[in-house]
Amino acid sequence: MARVVAFAGSKGGTGKTTLSHLAAHGAGSLPRPVPAVVVTTDPEDELAEGERRYVVVDGRSPALLADQLQRLLAMDRLLVLVDGVANRADVDRVLADIADLVLVPFGPSAQEGARAAANLAALPAAVAVPNRWPTHPGVAKRARRWLDIVPAARRLPPLRAIPRLDGLLGPDAYGEIAYEVAAPARGLILEILSRAGIDPDDLAAPR
Ligand SMILES: Nc1ncnc2c1ncn2[C@@H]1O[C@H](COP(=O)(O)OP(=O)(O)OP(=O)(O)O)[C@@H](O)[C@H]1O
Ligand SMILES: [Mg+2]
Repeated sequence: MARVVAFAGSKGGTGKTTLSHLAAHGAGSLPRPVPAVVVTTDPEDELAEGERRYVVVDGRSPALLADQLQRLLAMDRLLVLVDGVANRADVDRVLADIADLVLVPFGPSAQEGARAAANLAALPAAVAVPNRWPTHPGVAKRARRWLDIVPAARRLPPLRAIPRLDGLLGPDAYGEIAYEVAAPARGLILEILSRAGIDPDDLAAPR
């Protein structure tokens, strides 16, 4: 059976879409690439196009999402990354039922920290991803209080703001940034797989 990681959470603009694509790009950029699929669920999103190191599929209606998951889950050696929708607690609960790991991104603010903490309370197995986190020492020190809104045991290490990352979704910009974002993308997918207890070599194509 395929393994499933879902990006969820009630707040908009936290990085669900970006991190699902970045994680998939990381999976496809490993020394032994892991076949990855991003399932787009937000009815307001366009499907990302262009040749990629992973596949993008359409799950933008409940029926499509159910069909795609049924088809993909039956495959072996596949990592399915579900890009969730803001303000859809019902979708989040469905994803929590099927996913090996649910991730809730949040940015460096009191409001996003509080929303992530509330989402984690509703999804007991979910883990937060501090996203676009400052690295400059002075700013990072101030952001520390927002990090600590989420207990350390329930978050991944913070992911920094990555320049030009919005290009990940564009057909042409993807090719332009694919190389430069491969290192942080690999770092992210390895953190995620480790947290989910998944050995990437179990998903990679057989030698
Ligand atoms: N680590 C990062 N570094 C730089 N930019 C980022 C990072 N994460 C997200 N962004 C940017 O933040 C914006 C919002 O991200 P994104 O669209 O992925 O959020 P979302 O949770 O999917 O939003 P929505 O709830 O509307 O679906 C985008 O412009 C994206 O490029
Ligand atoms: Mg999105």
